[in-house]
Amino acid sequence: MYKIAVMPGDGTGPEVVVEGLKVLEAVAAKVGFKYETENFDFGGERYMRTGETLPDSAIDELRKKDSIFLGAIGHPDVKPGILEKGILLNARFALDQYINLRPVKLYPGVEGPLKDKGPEHIDFVVIRENSGGIYTGVGGASMVGTDQEIATQVMTYSRPIVDRAVRYAYQYAQKRNKKKTCTLVHKCNVLTQVGDLWVRSHKEIGDAEFSDIKQDYNHVDACTMWMVKSPEYYDVIVTSNLFGDIITDLGAMIQGGMGIAAGGNINPEGVSMFEPIGGSAPKYTGKNIINPLAAICAVGMMLDTLGESKAAEMIETAVMKVTGEKLESLSAGRMGYSTSEVGDLVCKML
Ligand code: IPM
Ligand code: MN
Repeated sequence: MYKIAVMPGDGTGPEVVVEGLKVLEAVAAKVGFKYETENFDFGGERYMRTGETLPDSAIDELRKKDSIFLGAIGHPDVKPGILEKGILLNARFALDQYINLRPVKLYPGVEGPLKDKGPEHIDFVVIRENSGGIYTGVGGASMVGTDQEIATQVMTYSRPIVDRAVRYAYQYAQKRNKKKTCTLVHKCNVLTQVGDLWVRSHKEIGDAEFSDIKQDYNHVDACTMWMVKSPEYYDVIVTSNLFGDIITDLGAMIQGGMGIAAGGNINPEGVSMFEPIGGSAPKYTGKNIINPLAAICAVGMMLDTLGESKAAEMIETAVMKVTGEKLESLSAGRMGYSTSEVGDLVCKML
């Protein structure tokens, strides 16, 4: 019996989560696993009512779950940073979800900006380090508000934090068993200290433990160029928190946009959290036009991580049928179907 926490969150989060749960129910019935869900209403509305983002007591509850399914966090009436730090980053850090796993894969029938590329060209995974780096907020500001103001925010990495992400990436390349390549993406030509730490970790772990996996390195600026020009070049990318944040939005675009892009915040030894990566899209809230496929793919990733690989594969195959045979577009309002109809289509294709 899997215990799944559900955090629908803000904006269109609740609508896409409903569709994800619909698909979860259908696939569970087919494959024969059992689960129970518990709802957590953290998000902008609750913050405005109570001043609470994600209290420690909730973290303790989440810790007891097998997995967390998240809709979206972000509310137009709440100052940027409060919900992001208080809920999303808080959960990632408190539950030590040190990997952010973001597959970039073009499904059939999806017309991306790279018209001459097909599903055979766009299929890679970004392993974004999710617990350290500039996101830890090390630094400070002084003389704030004066014309001499100084602020720093430091890209902080320790060897163990880098090593565990790099090791996860090599293992992922082995498990994926495709091009068997692990590309480190960094900026070691400028960030000579922290970049060098990543370069040595990548080389030493690769040499010592993963002789079957090819080692490769790209600077992050060049990587954005190759992702568009020759996406077929990539298999598994491993990178730091900020670079991963940036390149995975680009990745989402080349796979067809935020309607289809899912991600996992993974603690391989603990509780992981899965989400559509697109955010709360407030302007589409309540209109039944947002694309739920990203949330549905997040459910697939969740099941894969829980060990239900058959169910995960069934969801992905069903999603590919829906993109290939049914949807006119992946964009909100232009799918040719409503949000709930797309959820129903995936269930039918299972
Ligand atoms: C993401 C988001 C978050 C991040 C924000 C909302 C804090 O952009 O999950 O990629 O920067 O990690
Ligand atoms: Mn981001």
